[in-house]
Amino acid sequence: MANYQIKIMAKEIKNVEYGLEKIFEGAQDFLPLLGTDYVEFYVGNAKQSAHYYKTAFGFQSYAYAGLETGLKDRVSYVLKQDKIRLVLTTALTSDSPIGEHVKKHGDGVKVIALWVEDARKSFEETVKRGAKVYMEPVVEKDEHGEVVRAGIYTYGETVHMFVERKNYKGEFLPGFREWKSDYNPAQVGLKFIDHMVGNVGWNQMNATVKWYEDVMGFVNFLTFDDKQITTEYSALMSKVMSNGNGRIKFPINEPAEGKKKSQIEEYIDFYEGAGVQHLALATDDIIKTVADLKARGVEFLPPPPQAYYDDIPRRLGVHMDIMKEDIKELQRLSILVDADEEGYLLQIFTKPVEDRPTLFYEVIQRMGAKGFGAGNFKALFESIEREQALRGTL
Ligand code: FE2
Repeated sequence: MANYQIKIMAKEIKNVEYGLEKIFEGAQDFLPLLGTDYVEFYVGNAKQSAHYYKTAFGFQSYAYAGLETGLKDRVSYVLKQDKIRLVLTTALTSDSPIGEHVKKHGDGVKVIALWVEDARKSFEETVKRGAKVYMEPVVEKDEHGEVVRAGIYTYGETVHMFVERKNYKGEFLPGFREWKSDYNPAQVGLKFIDHMVGNVGWNQMNATVKWYEDVMGFVNFLTFDDKQITTEYSALMSKVMSNGNGRIKFPINEPAEGKKKSQIEEYIDFYEGAGVQHLALATDDIIKTVADLKARGVEFLPPPPQAYYDDIPRRLGVHMDIMKEDIKELQRLSILVDADEEGYLLQIFTKPVEDRPTLFYEVIQRMGAKGFGAGNFKALFESIEREQALRGTL
């Protein structure tokens, strides 16, 4: 099964490259994205969440806005690790839409902010193509210059914010001050966001894919149907969307029919709608990163059975020659391995980081492979199902 999937992936990756080249040739990328700017979470208690991300995930205190900076209705803590910026925001009043968001969804991602050269143009181009407006362009200024931001809705209540900072010399955004802390746990080697996955409801995947194609100019470069992503009990379907330069990748999942409840359906039930399922954070030394995270109390999904690790040399084939990691070490840390024609990748998934079984994290190290671990889906989902069974939601 794994080899079959690897072949499909390799074929589709070639399509991707073709698709991306086509975009460049035709200069059709009406929404050039420079990268992910930040990810903002609406949470019940930003102060305590910030402590968790520092202690458990090695994020660094970076910026702050709240009562002390003149805000009356909210507080935001910004954390940083290499290129990753997380913003944790909590309402200070009962009538806040932030509080409403947390009441409905629990803690979760509200904003996926995208770094652009021209926020007004990004807003105009996407709204012209059908995007629903979240925030008209706003210019924010301080002594370091100005930032232009504008937002549109994507799936559920999730927002894409366009951030233009070419005329800004400050660290984060106007209105924020530097956050200095006496408590600074070391980083764990997380470098950048590799991809961010959205879960949408029954029969919504294709509409969401079309939205990314039509409104954002993305291309669908990998597809996994429910025959590929299935276990004895449950199934899901997934399509990976990429922007023109390949820097931004958003896989979109929807549930599929199985004997028991799909993990995507469980998410939709508890999040009460579509939303971000996981953030994949890249490292260049997954063994060290995962050992650190485990020592700091991050909970990962339990390991697949022994047979999974025994089968790695066969699954990796020629890539075994370039594989530096010791399989025993990978097994000790429950790290998963997958390969495609261009190389291999190492990945691991946390348990949900909130009480509702919703958002979780992936840690990924790419050694040439461009896929998303399709060869691991079965082992991974069986592991998730064991957790679902414990929650009584399978
Ligand atoms: Fe992923």
